[in-house]
Amino acid sequence: MIIKNKKELEILREGGKRLAAVLAEAACHAIAGISTKELDALAENLILKSGGAPSFKGYKVRGVPRPYPGSLCVSINEEVVHGLPSDRELKNGDIVGLDIGMWFEGLCTDTAMTVLIGGGKNLPAGEAGKLIDATKKSLEIGIAEVRAGARVGDIGFAIQKYLETEGFGVVRELVGHGVGRAVHEDPEIPNWGHRGDGPELREGMAIALEPMATDGSPKVKLSKDGWTWLTRDCSRAAHFEHTLVVKKNGAEVLTRI
Ligand code: MF3
Ligand code: CO
Ligand code: CO
Repeated sequence: MIIKNKKELEILREGGKRLAAVLAEAACHAIAGISTKELDALAENLILKSGGAPSFKGYKVRGVPRPYPGSLCVSINEEVVHGLPSDRELKNGDIVGLDIGMWFEGLCTDTAMTVLIGGGKNLPAGEAGKLIDATKKSLEIGIAEVRAGARVGDIGFAIQKYLETEGFGVVRELVGHGVGRAVHEDPEIPNWGHRGDGPELREGMAIALEPMATDGSPKVKLSKDGWTWLTRDCSRAAHFEHTLVVKKNGAEVLTRI
């Protein structure tokens, strides 16, 4: 559990702000006809232009034979997270998770959103729109639990309760995490749990909260490509993520636009 110093927090703040702008711009280009490879290349250029470097590219996970090849994770419909950029083109009606991480002056931040193709980012419609809206709201509900002295379980409990009450599944295999000096740091931050359980949040911790919800069973499996997580029942999934700093009385969200 790493407490960031004042200088580190300043860097994370600036990096987070720049990364939020990068993701917002990349999301504007997520329209029917663009391939996920093109979107990845565009995002990578935006990262470089903003003075950062992609933190996902070349990232290695134990047990996965090849490092992550892209700068952006693009996860379509039943793909939950870590979708690999490819020649596949987005089409209207797809729901697309965009997850991005960036090094800036030696520290990294991490943020994600899900958009409905053809729906307009602020006008999600139908069932897919409800899933997207609820997942986005669950992240805000999790953030509202953050303050020094709260427990990791308080966050998970609040997110799980909201999403399940709304009728959505909460993915268990993947979790939020500490972030900053590495892409993933302790503690793990599950999107489920019990109030009062787990490690205590302390002022100066930088963490990424990232609820993943499904409109069917929450069960997921890893694709044969070694990276992409898929829902087992092929139901659609949504994902939102912010990097934030734990403060005495709340959270400072670093990746909000
Ligand atoms: N951004 C993911 C997370 O939120 C991690 C992606 S690692 C990658 O934790 F290698 F898949 F890019
Ligand atoms: Co992420
Ligand atoms: Co993350």
